Amino acid sequence: MELELDAALREWRDTVRRFADQRLRPTRREREAAHATPLAVIRELAALGLLGVNVPTALGGSARGPLAYVLAVREVAEADAAVAVTMAVSNMVAEVITRFGSEAQKTAFVPRITGGEMIGGAFALSEAGAGSDPGGMTTRAERRGERWLVNGEKLWITTGDGSDAIVLWARTGGPGPKGISCFLLDGRRPGFAAGKPEEKMGLWASHTVSLTFSDVELAGDALLGELGGGFKIAMMALDGGRIGVAAQALGIAYGALARVRELLTRPTAHQALAHEQGVQFQLADVATELEAAWLLVLRAAWLKGQNRPFSREAAMAKVMATESANRAVRVCVEIAGGLGYLEDEVTARALRDCRVTQIYEGTSEIQRLVISRDVLRGAHA
Ligand code: CAA
Repeated sequence: MELELDAALREWRDTVRRFADQRLRPTRREREAAHATPLAVIRELAALGLLGVNVPTALGGSARGPLAYVLAVREVAEADAAVAVTMAVSNMVAEVITRFGSEAQKTAFVPRITGGEMIGGAFALSEAGAGSDPGGMTTRAERRGERWLVNGEKLWITTGDGSDAIVLWARTGGPGPKGISCFLLDGRRPGFAAGKPEEKMGLWASHTVSLTFSDVELAGDALLGELGGGFKIAMMALDGGRIGVAAQALGIAYGALARVRELLTRPTAHQALAHEQGVQFQLADVATELEAAWLLVLRAAWLKGQNRPFSREAAMAKVMATESANRAVRVCVEIAGGLGYLEDEVTARALRDCRVTQIYEGTSEIQRLVISRDVLRGAHA
C-alpha cells in the first residue's frame, strides 16, 4: 500500500500550482470585478490539458486520470474558485460526451471543449422544481418526425451562456427517472434563450444562467446515449463531478488557511495570536479535518481510476470536504478578524466562494441520502 503521490503526479501538481500562482492568482480580482472569465484564460487551461484531464488524447484531453484531476482542481481552486468551477463543469461535460456520445458527437464536440474554444461546457439538468430531484423534471422533448421539439426551462446552469456544448436533460417518456433522456446541442445555434447571469454570493467570475426552450428543434441525432437512459447518465456524471467539487472546496479552504498562516507567522498585528492556545487548537482541528477529507477525495478518485464503483465514496468525499472546508473558512475569517472580513481578502472571498460547494452537484443532504442508502444495503468498501 502506497499513500504518496508518484513522481508523475507530483510533477503534474507542481505544474498546475505554478500556473495557478503565476497566471490565476494575480488576476483573479480583475475577473471578479468583471464578473466574467475571459476566453484567453480558458485557452490557457486548455493548453495545460486542464479541460479534459480524464479524456483521451485523441479527443484533445490529457488522459491523466481522476487523481490528476482532483490535484488540478484543488490547485486551481486555491488560486481562483470561479475558474475551478468552469474547469470542473467542462471536464464533466467532456467526459459525459466521451463516454456516451456517438463517434460523430465525440469528434464534433469534445475537442472543442478540451481545446478551449468556448468558455465552458454546460450541464443542463436542474429546474426550478427539480434540483435535488431531477427525476421530477418537466422540460419535454417530443419526437416530430425526424426531429425533436424541446419545451421547458433549466435553472442554475454554469456557463450556460458561454457554451457551445450543452448537455441537456428532458423528458421523452412517462414520469420518473426512466422517462428522461439526454441530448447534446450546439449552444451557438439559435432557438433557445439564456437568462441574465444570476448575482450570486460568490464565484462572481463564473456565470450561472437559466436556459429557456420554446419549441426548439433538435436534430434526430442529438440524443446522447439511449432513449430513456438520461437519468443514469446524469447520476454517473455527478458521481465524478462530486469528487471535483470536494477538491474545489478543499482548495478554497487551503487557500484561506495559507493566508491565516501568513498573518500569524509574519510581523503583523496578528502574530501574537499564534501563541494563543485557543487559536492553536482551532488551527489543529481545521488542518486535521481538511486532511481527512483530502484522503477521502483521493480514495474516491483512485476508485474511479480503477473503474470500480465509487458513488458512495464520492458522496462521502463531497460531504466531508465541503462541510469541513466551510467550517475551516469560518475559522480563518474569525482568526483574521476585521482584516479577514474585507472584501478583497482571501478569507472573505473563501467564505463567499465555499458556501455553494455544499449546494451544487448535490446538496449535503443528497450526499447523506446516497451514503445512507448504501449503508442500509449493507455494502462495504
Ligand atoms: N450511477 C448509476 N445509476 C444510478 C446512480 C448512480 N450513481 N444513482 C441512481 N442510479 C440509477 C438507479 O440504479 C435506478 O435505476 P434502476 O431503476 O434501473 O434500478 C435509477 O437510477 C433511479 O435511481 P433512484 O431510484 O435512486 O433515483 P432517485 O430519484 O431516488 O434519486 C438521488 C436519487 C441520488 C437523490 C438523485 O436524485 C440525486 O443525485 N439528486 C441530486 C441531483 C444533483 O446532484 N443535482 C446537481 C445539479 S447539476 C450541477 O449542480 C452542475 C453545475 O452546474 C455545477
